[in-house]
Amino acid sequence: MSQIHHAVREQFSRHAEFYARSTVHGEGDTLGIIVDFAEPKGTEKVLDIATGTGFMAFAIAPLVHHVTATDLTPAMLDKAGELAQERGLQNIDFQVATAESLPFESESFDLVTCRIAPHHFQDVPRFLTETHRVLRPNGLFCMVDSTCPESRRLIEWQNRVEKLRDPSHVWGYPPSQWREMISQTGFKIVRESDTRNAEIQFSWWSERAGNPTELIEELRTAFDELTQEEEEIYAVRRDDNDFYFAWPMYSVKAKKSGERKSGN
Ligand SMILES: C[S@@+](CC[C@H](N)C(=O)[O-])C[C@H]1O[C@@H](n2cnc3c(N)ncnc32)[C@H](O)[C@@H]1O
Repeated sequence: MSQIHHAVREQFSRHAEFYARSTVHGEGDTLGIIVDFAEPKGTEKVLDIATGTGFMAFAIAPLVHHVTATDLTPAMLDKAGELAQERGLQNIDFQVATAESLPFESESFDLVTCRIAPHHFQDVPRFLTETHRVLRPNGLFCMVDSTCPESRRLIEWQNRVEKLRDPSHVWGYPPSQWREMISQTGFKIVRESDTRNAEIQFSWWSERAGNPTELIEELRTAFDELTQEEEEIYAVRRDDNDFYFAWPMYSVKAKKSGERKSGN
């Protein structure tokens, strides 16, 4: 397992319980957008990659035939399994798997979903190639991830800030790069949407990872570097003691071609 995979497991094993209860992660428009993009008919075999504690899998499961929910972190899957049982969801199975190497036959799913996780992936092109491989012809890939504005300065700023706070953050891409990578994999992009995640309270976000005071101050200073226009991009809202912000999100619906290629 790579160093990045270890960092991800470390980070998410410590926070599985917290994550499952987090409204910042469990709410916001992105679940509804993916369900809407997927247009489920009730017959689909779905793969939810990097399911975490299962928010995406739980939203889509009642609308499809079956969901296979995978993640790199066993502690997150254990929590997801517990919650699925509590909710009486019986058409989900859970498997440990990395997004870059999926333990499934080619053309075995109708729909692949992935929500707010690829910025942790070590190798996004491999994740996309694997997603494409496991989808049947005409299958759908519906994804949402935190994204960066199309500005070199903000791409660097946002990734620096995210990585400072959470070492398991790898890279967040702007929409233009997502489009390029998804198209190069062989998908046709059919829909896109820009939104924001739920509003995040700075003190909650910066302290959550058990970060030391100096690091929290470094993060606060980084936000102070933003111009007023840049603050608007991140919906920064200040009150007396704290401030709030929201990361931009990129959602996409992409389709695999209906033509079978030999070897895939
Ligand atoms: C921010 S959580 C998102 C979870 C979930 N999709 C949701 O919507 O709440 C990110 C998850 O990605 C998983 N993850 C990170 N890198 C991964 C990889 N390379 N392969 C599979 N899972 C990964 C982590 O273990 C974690 O559970």
